[in-house]
Amino acid sequence: MDLRPNIAIDGPAGSGKSTVARRVAEELGYLYIDTGAMYRAITLKAYRAGVDFDDMDALGEVATNASVELVAGPDRSLKVLLDHEDVTEEIRSPYISRCVSLTARAPKVRKRLVELQRTMAKQGGVVMEGRDIGTVVLPDAQIKIYLMASPEERSRRRLKELSAKGYKIGLHQMQAEILERDRLDATRKIGPLTPAADAEIINCTSLSVEQVVRMITERILAGR
Ligand code: DC
Repeated sequence: MDLRPNIAIDGPAGSGKSTVARRVAEELGYLYIDTGAMYRAITLKAYRAGVDFDDMDALGEVATNASVELVAGPDRSLKVLLDHEDVTEEIRSPYISRCVSLTARAPKVRKRLVELQRTMAKQGGVVMEGRDIGTVVLPDAQIKIYLMASPEERSRRRLKELSAKGYKIGLHQMQAEILERDRLDATRKIGPLTPAADAEIINCTSLSVEQVVRMITERILAGR
């Protein structure tokens, strides 16, 4: 029996990956997997435990002992469970965003989460988004997309999301934080943010979500 294809979507913070990946999964009836949420959940656990974010072994220990589950809700929303507690909202807070790239540098954290992610994709039919999906997690994914957008546009999008949740951050600070996160994500030794050699790079600065979704679903429907 042929498995349904897997779709890997990578790109920097605020590039629109989550919105696009969620919509593509909806259109195709695939499973949406937000791997950034998994790094965020481990970061929250480490933060609560007062772990030093420069201590790679301690971060690895936190990941090894954590249960992280992504559960699809009836309305297609994705719940993030950390040790069975619903942390969906808390992992989006600015303090977690500031530390998450530090957690994501730890080799043992990456090893554990990559294993979990590969298990989730074993049956095919997933749209998985992150930073290293096309390069490390699913190098055999049939479709690989790298989404990018200008830093100004990415900061505006993130700011809009956070303001809607009541957080107050200036555009200038948001842009500085996004660029620092890009720098950390792109320069780490394991699984850095980079397009896979066979990824299609889409600059979506001036494309609508629907246009990008259509570009991806058309490739799947055309069997490419
Ligand atoms: O997509 P996001 O902003 O929620 O991701 C949060 C952080 O997690 C991001 O700064 C880097 C890290 N991450 C990663 O290292 N590898 C992934 N596959 C996904 C996210």
